[in-house]
Amino acid sequence: MSARVVALTGATGFIGSVLRERLVARGVEVRALARSRSGTAEDGTKWIKGTLEDEPALAELTRGADAVIHCAGKVRGRAARDFDSVNVQGSKHLMEATRLNGSCERFLLISSLAARHPTLSWYAASKFEGERQVKAAAGAIPVCIFRPTAVYGPGDRELRPLFDWLLRGWLVTLGRDDSQFSFLHVDDLVSAVMQWLDAPVVQSQTFELCDGQVQGYDWASLAGIACDIRHAPVRQAAVPAGVLKGLARANLVLSRFTRRAPMLTPGKVNELMHPDWTCSNARISASLGWEPQILLRQALRNHMF
Ligand SMILES: NC(=O)c1ccc[n+]([C@@H]2O[C@H](COP(=O)([O-])OP(=O)(O)OC[C@H]3O[C@@H](n4cnc5c(N)ncnc54)[C@H](OP(=O)(O)O)[C@@H]3O)[C@@H](O)[C@H]2O)c1
Repeated sequence: MSARVVALTGATGFIGSVLRERLVARGVEVRALARSRSGTAEDGTKWIKGTLEDEPALAELTRGADAVIHCAGKVRGRAARDFDSVNVQGSKHLMEATRLNGSCERFLLISSLAARHPTLSWYAASKFEGERQVKAAAGAIPVCIFRPTAVYGPGDRELRPLFDWLLRGWLVTLGRDDSQFSFLHVDDLVSAVMQWLDAPVVQSQTFELCDGQVQGYDWASLAGIACDIRHAPVRQAAVPAGVLKGLARANLVLSRFTRRAPMLTPGKVNELMHPDWTCSNARISASLGWEPQILLRQALRNHMF
């Protein structure tokens, strides 16, 4: 399929901004929903001011779009309802608007690997339920769900401190010594989206995505990579689970006074402590022919984060 008009949400965020640039570079007409921007035709993008709760904005966003890419999401919040209103209700509203407009041939939801474990956190539960609601509201529109693992790259603020400190020779470890996790470079995620867009036929499917490192990473292998790059040792400091949980509880209480959405919450600690965040690209590779190109070792060596 060569989409002419793509409706994109989350285009002002870390992943969505890279997606928007790549779509525009391909000559696609991009309609982007934004809460803080308005105006038209800047860099091949028509910015539509509104939120996922704003029906007229969603109608305008999806009108005439061949494909919809839903990348907006709530990743921080003080309560379950903060996540639900965006990741569940907002996603459902977007699908309803898409369906009403009748032009969309394919819909992509950027979910998360966290949706695999909905009991871990408010975020994980909302991503899981958002997937369910989008599929239920889709009618005949094929819905593809991407569940990327932790995504990093230029513009990311969450993983960057970990990598910065790692290359300075410090690794702060959380959870079990044998915890396994995975990563994905944002450029690889965006390439997977392009392959989904180009596929002649798509079906409703759910794909997990990571950088393809066999069995993922553990703390020792992260330290080993940094050690090789630095040609110097890496010191590890473990944060005890009790300390992390205490900090998360205090942070949550504090956020109710400051009214800021906290990243470290008891749910986030559950996610961080989860022992296995590895996944396999086998299904997406077989279906879309996508293979990631950037391993973490290469990204750290070349400062691609
Ligand atoms: N980063 C990761 O490691 C990772 C991993 C797996 C999955 N994901 C998923 O990927 C998506 C993008 O993540 P990200 O890291 O790029 O997040 P981000 O930088 O926080 O960007 C989130 C985007 O969603 C928009 N948004 C939030 N609430 C909205 C609302 N009510 N109405 C309209 N737009 C709204 C934001 O708009 P404003 O600019 O106005 O705030 C922003 O453009 C999310 O769905 C996330 O769950 C991320």
